[in-house]
Amino acid sequence: MRAVAKAQPNIALVKYWGKRDTRRNLPAVGSISITLSELYTLMSVELDPQLGADRLDVNGRDDADLLPRVSRCLDDVLGNSRTRARVASTTNFPVAAGLASSASAFAALVLAVTAAAGLSRDQGQLARVAGRASGSAARSLYGGFVELRNDGDDIAVASLLDGADWPLKVVIAITAAAPKPVGSGEAMEISRRTSPFYGRWVNEQDADLRAARRAICTRDFEKLATVAEHNCLKMHSVMWTSRPAVVYWNEATLACMQAIRQLQAEGVGVFFTIDAGPQVKAICLPEAEQAVCGTLAAVPGVTKTMISGLGSGAVLVDAA
Ligand code: PMV
Repeated sequence: MRAVAKAQPNIALVKYWGKRDTRRNLPAVGSISITLSELYTLMSVELDPQLGADRLDVNGRDDADLLPRVSRCLDDVLGNSRTRARVASTTNFPVAAGLASSASAFAALVLAVTAAAGLSRDQGQLARVAGRASGSAARSLYGGFVELRNDGDDIAVASLLDGADWPLKVVIAITAAAPKPVGSGEAMEISRRTSPFYGRWVNEQDADLRAARRAICTRDFEKLATVAEHNCLKMHSVMWTSRPAVVYWNEATLACMQAIRQLQAEGVGVFFTIDAGPQVKAICLPEAEQAVCGTLAAVPGVTKTMISGLGSGAVLVDAA
C-alpha cells in the first residue's frame, strides 16, 4: 500500500507552449526534451483506508495549494471512490521556479501511486496520465532525449536516444529562487487567446521538431543548438506579445544569454534554453562544462549554478 518513486525533471529543447484541449490538458504542439540526471523528486505515496482526506507534504511542509492538483491526479489513476493517500515529496532543487519541478513531481506521483495500488500500467499509459496533470511530466517517465507527439486524440511519448549515446551536459544558472508570477498553464491560455504570433508558433512546430530530431539522431550539436535557441526565443516571443505580456526573464537571464553568445563566438560548444521562469539552462558538450559553469557563475545576479548530465526515466525505488 506504499511506494516510493524517483523522477528527474526534463528540459525541453523544442518547447511545449499552448493546449489544444484544456480539460484533458493536451498540448497544441509536440516537444522534445532531455531528462536530467542530477536533479530529482522522490515521491512517497501511502494509501491509508483510515484517512478521511488526502495529505500532501512538500519538502517537509504541508502544501494546501498543490493538494487539489495532486488529488485530481490520484483520482485519474484510481478513480473517484478511492482510498485516500498520504503523499510526501522531496526535491533537491528549488520548486516552482522554472526548473520543471511539476514534471518530475507528477511523473514520480503517477508511478508511485500505480505501484502502491498494485496496478500494472505500461510506460505509455503512465506518461498519458502524468501528462494530464502536467504536460511536461509525460516526458519525465523516459530517459535521455525524449519526444512527445500528438497521437490521435491523445499523446505518445518515446525515447529518441539514450543519454549515454550522446552525453551532453547541462549547466543551470539560478537567477531567482522565488515562485514564478504566473503559472505555465494559465500563461499558455493567455498566449493562445491573445498573442498575434500564437498561430504561427503552432504551425512552425513540426519543422522545428523535424530539425531537432535529425540533429539528435546524427548527434549534430551545431544544428541542435540553432533549432533549440530559435524555438526557445520563438516561445518567449509568443509570451511577450500576449496581453497581458508574460515575461519570466530578469536582468541576469539576459546577461547569461549574452555570456553564452560570447562563449559561442570563442568556439565553445554551448547553447541556451529558458522555460517558464528566469533560470538559464546551458546545454554543452562534455568538454565545455567547466568553462560554461565558470562563466555563468561569474554573471552578476546568478546566485547558484548546478551541473547535470542526462538521466534515465522515472523508477520505483521502494514498494511495500
Ligand atoms: O508542463 P507544464 O505545464 O509545466 O509546461 C511546461 C512548459 C515549458 O516548460 C515552458 C516548456 C516545456 O516543454 O517544458
